Amino acid sequence: MKNKILVTGGTGYIGSHTCIALHEAGYDIVVYDNLSNSSREAVNRVSTLIGQTIEFIEGDIRDVETLRQVFSTHQFFGVIHFAGLKAVGESVAKPLLYYDNNVSGTITLLEVMAEYAVKNLVFSSSATVYGNPENLPINEESPRSCTNPYGQSKIAVEHILEDLAVSDDSWNLVALRYFNPVGAHSSGQIGEDPNDIPNNLMPYISQVAVGKLEKLNVFGNDYPTIDGTGVRDFIHVTDLAQGHVAALNYLDKQTRPKESGTTKLNSVGFLPINLGTGKGTSVLELVNAFNEVTGRDIPYQFTERRAGDIASCYASADKAKTLLGWQAELSVNDMCKDTWHWQSMNPSGYKVS
Ligand code: NAD
Ligand code: UFG
Repeated sequence: MKNKILVTGGTGYIGSHTCIALHEAGYDIVVYDNLSNSSREAVNRVSTLIGQTIEFIEGDIRDVETLRQVFSTHQFFGVIHFAGLKAVGESVAKPLLYYDNNVSGTITLLEVMAEYAVKNLVFSSSATVYGNPENLPINEESPRSCTNPYGQSKIAVEHILEDLAVSDDSWNLVALRYFNPVGAHSSGQIGEDPNDIPNNLMPYISQVAVGKLEKLNVFGNDYPTIDGTGVRDFIHVTDLAQGHVAALNYLDKQTRPKESGTTKLNSVGFLPINLGTGKGTSVLELVNAFNEVTGRDIPYQFTERRAGDIASCYASADKAKTLLGWQAELSVNDMCKDTWHWQSMNPSGYKVS
């Protein structure tokens, strides 16, 4: 029998790509999303791509009754929990919204999982939990710190998961700490669709390329990096999606009874794992790669550093390789090519232009 997975936030950017990877890997999926930052059209397109209608439930992770209905109708092997708000600036303006949505919402989800004895979870954490890292590349043992409510909400959920694992060893809780997800599905049918002017670099570049924005502001050229601009670990969203499949496969393998005749399962506990490429790329290097791959010319100007930004951030990706057998395969050029394919085919994202 196929393992069935509940995908919260499954209509969003990373969730929609992961649904495809899960389907291809043989998992059954049920998507649960309140559409607060995504579009029903993403569900339609994923259904078309996989050749099967996805089971989609419009619901909020803070809504205990709707969650109960879902868990009583399906028998899940586990949950991939993408649902959350992610805009750093908005989190500073609306901290209560972020703590309620991201932290209280996760607690409600965990309570319902416990009620229905579903104890396997893959949680979307972030490299933001490392704050301004002391050492590079960043490994999972690095101290956690953060100065904005979004990042604090990720750290808070990680602490909750750690405490839960200590309280009861039947929980298996993987926190995947994503570095900088970019790119789009190679079909050009699904991709990142920011609501307003993008905060993040790659969607900003692609909107300049398509003519929606005039030029890129490069935030600072006096960092202690290769060319003075910020360095990040950009990771293709398709690789990231495969990382979730690898995490579920790991949970499946680890939680199977090891000896015949025993029903005792092996506990994974709380397991934080970086998902990055291990390679840093500067803002200017990314702009140049985009120019080269797409043949577009991205005009840019240097401006002040953005408050809260750090100079460099890239992962040690060893733990994912050793434990999950996963590593990123796609290059920065692939990330630019696929971003441009999606953006040029869908200049207004999922909205009809
Ligand atoms: P996204 O906004 O595209 O997807 C999140 C989805 O969750 C959206 O479809 C949204 O409608 C849904 N959602 C939000 N609150 C909900 C709620 N209360 N109930 C039900 N659904 C809800 O974002 P994404 O880029 O796909 O990110 C997915 C996850 O990964 C988030 O938790 C995010 O914090 C985390 N993450 C993202 C990045 C990144 O750069 N994209 C980096 C690190 C971590
Ligand atoms: N940048 C610009 N101009 C822009 C946007 C960004 O120069 O218009 C620069 C930034 O200064 C930074 C780099 O591009 O040096 C990357 O910036 P992003 O905003 O794309 O990404 P961040 O690393 O700042 O943050 C992202 C997510 C966070 C997440 C973090 C770690 O936005 O939510 O990665 O995963 F926590």
